[in-house]
Amino acid sequence: MDQQRATPTEGTPTEGTPTQEAPTQDRPAAGRVVVVTGAGRGLGRAHALAFARAGARVVVNDLGVALDGAGGTALSAETPAGQVAAEIRAMGGEAAVSTDDVADSQGAARLVRTALEHFGGLDTLVNNAGYLRDRMLVNLEEDDWDAVVRVHLKGHFLTMKHAAGYWRAESKAGRTRRARIVNTSSGAGLLGAVGQGNYAAAKAGVAALTLVAAAEFGRYGVQVNAVAPAARTRMTERTFAARMAAPADGSFDAMAPENVSPLVVHLGSDACEGVTGRVFEAEGGRITLMDGWRRGAHIDKGARWEPAELAAPLQGLLHRSPDPEPVYGAG
Ligand SMILES: NC(=O)c1ccc[n+]([C@@H]2O[C@H](COP(=O)([O-])OP(=O)(O)OC[C@H]3O[C@@H](n4cnc5c(N)ncnc54)[C@H](O)[C@@H]3O)[C@@H](O)[C@H]2O)c1
Repeated sequence: MDQQRATPTEGTPTEGTPTQEAPTQDRPAAGRVVVVTGAGRGLGRAHALAFARAGARVVVNDLGVALDGAGGTALSAETPAGQVAAEIRAMGGEAAVSTDDVADSQGAARLVRTALEHFGGLDTLVNNAGYLRDRMLVNLEEDDWDAVVRVHLKGHFLTMKHAAGYWRAESKAGRTRRARIVNTSSGAGLLGAVGQGNYAAAKAGVAALTLVAAAEFGRYGVQVNAVAPAARTRMTERTFAARMAAPADGSFDAMAPENVSPLVVHLGSDACEGVTGRVFEAEGGRITLMDGWRRGAHIDKGARWEPAELAAPLQGLLHRSPDPEPVYGAG
């Protein structure tokens, strides 16, 4: 961690909880305090601005690292997080800045504390921060495995753990909040992607973690869902340049990151009721419910199989079942 980052937050803490503004059609997140991780750029920035426009007070978190996770910036108005907070304030909204590392236990705890100290509570956590280090598995260095699994998977676990600790305490004190968590998975994690073994494993883990968190946190009033976005950001604009390009004729820019944010704001708002443990793919104007693993056809001998007798029944089982969706980049 950067030693210059002695004071991890900026802005003036709010005294107590201000009068709650009620949500409306135009401002569905009014009265809510929202943390968005990795909100200095790309999708996270779009989510933070959309929440602010929807009436939320936003903690803008971003470590300010390079595309591969290198570097990081000390706290200042010049950081990506500081710039997005300034954009929110310029449009009349309220924002606090955090430059904490979400995959560091103290950083994640401080991030949740930032919301409590600045805005008197926490209602929605959007886990979005992360980076890539793509390699074929045979060339993937252990460090690149560890770093990518750490930032996505541990970076989701730690923030959820600290936020849920707060929501559990609120619930036990008789102040159950209508809390929401929106995690960020990926098509790579749900279907697999060639050259992204570390990232795909981490994002599949995020999907599974979402199911567990939804089941565990429901009793504290928390709904937990995940999105698998596709949008033009620095993460995708080089690899998928043609697919991601904005149309020159001014028609709908399907790959703008802002297209994913309405779903994230909805999942993170009071109006989203009874939706938990779900994963949605979001691209342009299309929202797809991802069906996930479910038990398909089966064979059952009613006794232990011999390995040699399995070939034909197994082929029959596959024959009766739909083919899996292709792995991205395969074949
Ligand atoms: N862009 C896509 O099409 C796409 C597709 C699937 C999934 N995703 C996921 O969406 C999320 C956002 O990606 P993006 O495309 O906007 O990328 P991005 O690089 O534009 O933004 C990610 C941000 O996260 C920050 N960050 C990285 N590590 C951090 C840490 N430890 N703590 C705090 N902040 C940290 C970075 O500084 C960066 O600003 C990621 O989880 C990504 O895997 C994106």
